[in-house]
Amino acid sequence: MEVGFIQFAPKFGNSEYNTQKVLHLLGTDRADIIVLPELFTTGYLFKNREELERLSENVNYSVTISKFKELSKEKNTIFIGGFPEKSGDNIYNSQFLVDGDKILIYRKNHLFYEEKKLFEKGNSNLPIYNNGIVKIGLMICFDWIFPEMMRSLALAGADIICHSANLVMPYCQDAMITRAIENRIYIITANRVGKDERGGKSYQFTGRSQIVAPGGDIILSTGKDNETFLKIDIDPKKSRDKNINNSNNLFKDRRTDIYKL
Ligand code: ACM
Repeated sequence: MEVGFIQFAPKFGNSEYNTQKVLHLLGTDRADIIVLPELFTTGYLFKNREELERLSENVNYSVTISKFKELSKEKNTIFIGGFPEKSGDNIYNSQFLVDGDKILIYRKNHLFYEEKKLFEKGNSNLPIYNNGIVKIGLMICFDWIFPEMMRSLALAGADIICHSANLVMPYCQDAMITRAIENRIYIITANRVGKDERGGKSYQFTGRSQIVAPGGDIILSTGKDNETFLKIDIDPKKSRDKNINNSNNLFKDRRTDIYKL
């Protein structure tokens, strides 16, 4: 199975440009699963809730999601990426997974810093998509710092974690090696590059998108400021073997009599 990520610098507030940029980076290429960054349709640094509201999309009328459904059918690809989602009076920092006409929405559980002033926190069940061949677990950026999130997805049977990110701290890419070892799972982190400078604030994003294998090896990675589409062939079934050696199994050896997770 071919899996990949697209890393780029979204232009703030210009979802048409950002979608076109993804199409351009992909060109005539494809993969079975392609992960895009968090909030790739809009950029990250909203000045206020009014601006966020104006740029957010309702899933049922989303031009972006319609476009990616179309692209998913054309390329036979599962696309995963982040966008601001409007639902009633609420706005979530969300991620869509589209597989043809099928869609799963995950709303970010762990909001980072000033996101807490802008978005409602997620209220979805554990986000896992099963197409009968592979089980995909979803995560958005800062979710990484809560090991419970990935452990819960792994315990629920996820083979691959598709992690859409707008990382600003330097720790996540290294931490994902540990997450992959401790859960024996594939992790695709699609991060953005570039800077958002707005309203007197500035965020520099750290790039270095990567794919980590269940043993903790980084099997694909890229630079801190380039725009690219990269992919690699993997066997997602490798995630299903939780044995470390003949006598240790990552899940069966957990002491749930002592701790909860
Ligand atoms: C983040 O959660 N975007 C850092």
